[in-house]
Amino acid sequence: MADGIILIHGFPLDSAMWAPQVAALKSTTRVVAPDLPGFGDAPSTGGVMSMNEAAEHVAREAKAAGVERALVCGLSMGGYVALALWRQHAELVAGFVFANTKAGPDDEAGADRRRQLAGRLQAEGSAFLVASPGPLFSDAAHPALWRLVKDIIDAQNPNSIAAAALGMAVRQDSTPDLARITVPTLVITGSNDALIPPEATRPIAEGIEGARYEVIEGAGHLSNLEAPEQFNALLREQWESVRGL
Ligand code: MLT
Repeated sequence: MADGIILIHGFPLDSAMWAPQVAALKSTTRVVAPDLPGFGDAPSTGGVMSMNEAAEHVAREAKAAGVERALVCGLSMGGYVALALWRQHAELVAGFVFANTKAGPDDEAGADRRRQLAGRLQAEGSAFLVASPGPLFSDAAHPALWRLVKDIIDAQNPNSIAAAALGMAVRQDSTPDLARITVPTLVITGSNDALIPPEATRPIAEGIEGARYEVIEGAGHLSNLEAPEQFNALLREQWESVRGL
């Protein structure tokens, strides 16, 4: 029997990004939304936050919260960590939600961009990233959403953001793992995700037998914040389908 939901946050945010999901679920369901190492209240693991270390951290946090078997939902970087969790702690996973993420690794140019970003964060701090965090929402997103995520980014230690960027740069290709995923899986994307577009996310659903694929029309990268009602409805449906497993 699944006994909880684990929500794994994206980059360069912390667990505060899950506020609409925690608020919707917490009265009926045990929800574990850990801060990844170095983010929020979590201690850093050093200069590089590998996806594997992040997955170990998530497994420890779940155990500490009394969750033995969960629906694991990861958005973007959180999806990379969720895939590492499957390799390292499959026993913990009753089902998956992969949102606005992808299975493949960075190419050389992408890894290089992350190393440059990390160097700049270490040298200058995060003000430039807070000012221009990239296309986290669609063009139609309410300004309050931008304020919210900029505040979350501003609250993070720049060296921890750098460590996560360096960890993502060296993450392994999770594509070969997809065929080995045997738990019910829902894949969510947003039609206006300009950071990890639907065509980059869809192969996860194609690679996992029986996976469900849902596009939230109009939503950008942080689909859980931009379209919380649709996202929560999908998350609830997936929880209902795995909670007895
Ligand atoms: C995220 O939202 O977690 C990041 O955009 C992921 C990435 O940079 O690959």
